[in-house]
Amino acid sequence: MEWYELYDVAERYIELLNPCSREKVIEAGDVLGLGPHTRLIDFGCGTGEPLAMWAEQFGVIGVGIEFRPRAAAKARLKMIEKGLTKQIEIVEGKGADYQFEKHAFDIASCMGASFIWHGYPQAIRAMKEAIKPNGKILIGEPYWIKEPHVPDDLCRDEKFYYEHELLDMARTEGFTFEYMIRSSEEEWARYNAANWRGLTAWLKENPRHPDYDQVRGWLDKEQDTYLRWLREYIGWALYILTPLPR
Ligand SMILES: C[S@@+](CC[C@H](N)C(=O)[O-])C[C@H]1O[C@@H](n2cnc3c(N)ncnc32)[C@H](O)[C@@H]1O
Repeated sequence: MEWYELYDVAERYIELLNPCSREKVIEAGDVLGLGPHTRLIDFGCGTGEPLAMWAEQFGVIGVGIEFRPRAAAKARLKMIEKGLTKQIEIVEGKGADYQFEKHAFDIASCMGASFIWHGYPQAIRAMKEAIKPNGKILIGEPYWIKEPHVPDDLCRDEKFYYEHELLDMARTEGFTFEYMIRSSEEEWARYNAANWRGLTAWLKENPRHPDYDQVRGWLDKEQDTYLRWLREYIGWALYILTPLPR
């Protein structure tokens, strides 16, 4: 199967596809000042759970962009089932290719997908184009907790930073951290375990599937990476960036 279909398998039991709680997503919405007139764009929206929560709780309107066809379809179905199609549009495609109306949104968010633009500073620069001059950015991002002693290839696809570096890069782009909401170790563990659960269920149901070895290899690697390295060295948090006059 394609690499991204492994995520479809892994995420069978979860709707919120990041290591934080529903309460923290709502807390972020509160701090962002979301309301019925808020226009929001969410890059890498997954199955649309944060968007649906914000639409139900605060009445926001917005658009979510999601690369994986199954996740986008699930998000669309969710909006239909919840009666939110007038508020939330789901677009299937690559976030970096999406042609949005410039400086038209109150909020741009990207939780766990800054790799859409190949990194955190690029993500800020891209989302800055989407928001109004006084708009805010919400980024969910991993960070180094301490000096990492990890294999070189662990960070081949993604570059991680310390939190003070994340703040510095936000400042360089004219923002400061208005707020941050860290995920607990418990939330990290639960998110990882939920992915293992999805993969394990699939392996039990498909012992003779031609992709069995690929899925088993992915499960083993995910488990090893989390328990040996990520748990000790990597944290995850939601950062709310607000512009400050120079
Ligand atoms: C960690 S998940 C987070 C999903 C959602 N933001 C949430 O918090 O529930 C990252 C999402 O980004 C999507 N994604 C990956 N590459 C993308 C791209 N180039 N453009 C848009 N979405 C992408 C993935 O398919 C995945 O659903």
